[in-house]
Amino acid sequence: MLIKLAKASDCKESDVTPHASYLSRRTFLGGSMLALAATGLPRLAVADPSLYADVDPGKSPKWFANKLPNTQWQAVTVKGEAITPFKDATHYNNYYEFGTDKGDPAANAGALKTEPWSVVIDGEVAKPGRYALEDFMQPYQLQERIYRMRCVEAWSMVIPWLGFPLADLLKQVQPTSKAKYIRFETLNDPQVMPGQRSDFALIQWPYVEGLRLDEAMHPLTILAVGMYGRELPNQNGAPLRLVVPWKYGFKGVKSIVRISLVSEQPTTTWQNIAPDEYGFFANVNPKVDHPRWTQARERRLPSGLFSPNVRDTQMFNGYEEEVASLYTGMDLRKNY
Ligand code: MTE
Repeated sequence: MLIKLAKASDCKESDVTPHASYLSRRTFLGGSMLALAATGLPRLAVADPSLYADVDPGKSPKWFANKLPNTQWQAVTVKGEAITPFKDATHYNNYYEFGTDKGDPAANAGALKTEPWSVVIDGEVAKPGRYALEDFMQPYQLQERIYRMRCVEAWSMVIPWLGFPLADLLKQVQPTSKAKYIRFETLNDPQVMPGQRSDFALIQWPYVEGLRLDEAMHPLTILAVGMYGRELPNQNGAPLRLVVPWKYGFKGVKSIVRISLVSEQPTTTWQNIAPDEYGFFANVNPKVDHPRWTQARERRLPSGLFSPNVRDTQMFNGYEEEVASLYTGMDLRKNY
């Protein structure tokens, strides 16, 4: 399991990387390194530091720097799986508002202004409101979560996110008894999002995603504002995105501006385009193929034509122990 919510038994202080092996990036974050040991981490080992030398520290807003965990990101492997190089995670993206090629988001998303940013909370909640992002983030301390990300297109990465449990937000805003689902909406701004201006786009903007309330409350589900120890790059969904590690990557809606608690299951963007191919649940499942390709295996990036890095896909992306009970009694072939 790739998550920094380890059971106490998973981690001994000696599992954590010795001081000398930390990357040079530590200088831009400051803070105590060995606090990692105190937080109870899974077994860690340092990956080849040269792979991570290119992490661009970005220009984090002040509120972000104040919320960093008292640790910092390191290039680690967890249970033998290396973190994906920053370059791949930030230059092989899906963010159709900025184009359909994998390099388009990195090339075009720089135009997105993420400060100021506001988030609306509405629908079936006791405490609706519109919040400036720094006020929205005020109650939460950031946690680092190292998760696998499996795209429905059969490629995958391992990403160190910075975020907080979505459950903590839900506790704040207090869903009413009518709230059964949660619906998320991305910014809709054709002026800065060339994909939204395209006449060929099949997508009805804004990009919409949703979760059942118990999925949203699950401790693995987070809202992320950062990755690799820095704020999210625009192409990865700055300033706020959803991360649900046991589901296909398209559930991870980017640049969120609205979070609504609703009584009916929302229609999501990909369901709307191709309901036979993309379901509401979108749980990673090697036994249920996409109508046009197998889901039994995945290409772990970086992976090239001459150095393919192909591995078996795991049920619920390797988080079966934690999440299978959410779907007890459900036919996962029908509820794909
Ligand atoms: N969110 C929005 N708003 N627009 C998108 O096109 N693509 C989704 C998801 N979130 C998408 C989105 C898909 S298909 C995937 S696989 C992930 O973002 C990719 O996240 P990454 O680019 O950070 O790897």
